[in-house]
Amino acid sequence: MGIKILGIGSYVPEKILTNHDLEKMVETSDDWIKSRTGIEQRRIATAEQATSDLAYEAAVKALKAADLHAEELDAVIVASITVDQVFPSTACILQQKLGARHAFCFDLEAACSGLLYSLEVANSLLLGNPKYKKILVIGAEKLSSIVDWEDRNTCVLFGDGAGAVILGKCEDTPESCIIASDLGADGKYTDVLQIIAGGSRCPASAETVAKGQHYLTMSGGDVFKLAVNAMVRSCKKVMKEANITAEDIRWLVPHQANYRILRAVASRLKIPEDEVYMNVSRFGNTSAASIGLCLDEIALGNKAEKGDYILLTAFGGGLTWAAILLKW
Ligand code: ACO
Repeated sequence: MGIKILGIGSYVPEKILTNHDLEKMVETSDDWIKSRTGIEQRRIATAEQATSDLAYEAAVKALKAADLHAEELDAVIVASITVDQVFPSTACILQQKLGARHAFCFDLEAACSGLLYSLEVANSLLLGNPKYKKILVIGAEKLSSIVDWEDRNTCVLFGDGAGAVILGKCEDTPESCIIASDLGADGKYTDVLQIIAGGSRCPASAETVAKGQHYLTMSGGDVFKLAVNAMVRSCKKVMKEANITAEDIRWLVPHQANYRILRAVASRLKIPEDEVYMNVSRFGNTSAASIGLCLDEIALGNKAEKGDYILLTAFGGGLTWAAILLKW
């Protein structure tokens, strides 16, 4: 008995925020944003929408694609840095909305690597325990809620969205669709990407809000270098473990942070640019959601064939990183 992807779904909010819109909000330009990041527009959730609402829309589509009812799920894992509330978990809130009443539910925080960390956890649960058969994994973010809209260094980069994948046991395949994986973290770099206030070290107060410490901060240049190195190293490990070369890969699907990062990774792995899946121009950086958005587009657009190798890779706050080789 193997494990395969039973269904994929994604959701982005309707509202589009273009670079030209941002020109009216901060001192920036469409040219600067496009040339430094490749981003042209991003989606922004409404004030009423929380992360669980975005996750719900993606999950419903994944369930439909898998032809499953929510009651059939054994677990729900939500990867996010923009959870609805500190607790209860967004996964529990989502469970209630979906009616996934037989599932155990938890959130997983690995920033932009969250979907890949969650896929690894789900795959291991399915492989390791006969009682688990179907697990819903979602990367969902409302990054617009933690961005300082007066800070041009960060506000141009991020967007909102959700991507869902259902992994399940399957009689007609002997192996797991996850052929190889590499996950890592380095807590030395906790300060290059962070939100300072709102946790136990620095609880939210009028003072922290006045200082803007509830917003995401980033040391862009450091993140750039660390991201490229981490993803290249991780992808190489996974390719070696699976005994494949760059030529065997149909798609490299990196976390959609910045097209220059994506290109640098591809070039160091010797993967041609037309085999690197990119939608960062349309959605910006959606953190844990980004790889799910790509996978859904690949599935809906029939852009991969059964048996194709798809190499997923991500990096994020922590720092965390991951690479997963999927057999489609
Ligand atoms: N518009 C115009 N100018 C800007 C803007 C903007 N939106 N933002 C910054 N600048 C200015 C800065 O103030 C700085 O000006 P200064 O030199 O006068 O101080 C200058 O542009 C910096 O320019 P560069 O050094 O050329 O910028 P760089 O090429 O490093 O690009 C960027 C900056 C896009 C942030 C890049 O470093 C990057 O993408 N880093 C990685 C970021 C990332 O991926 N973060 C998220 C990862 S984790 C997660 O997803 C949660």
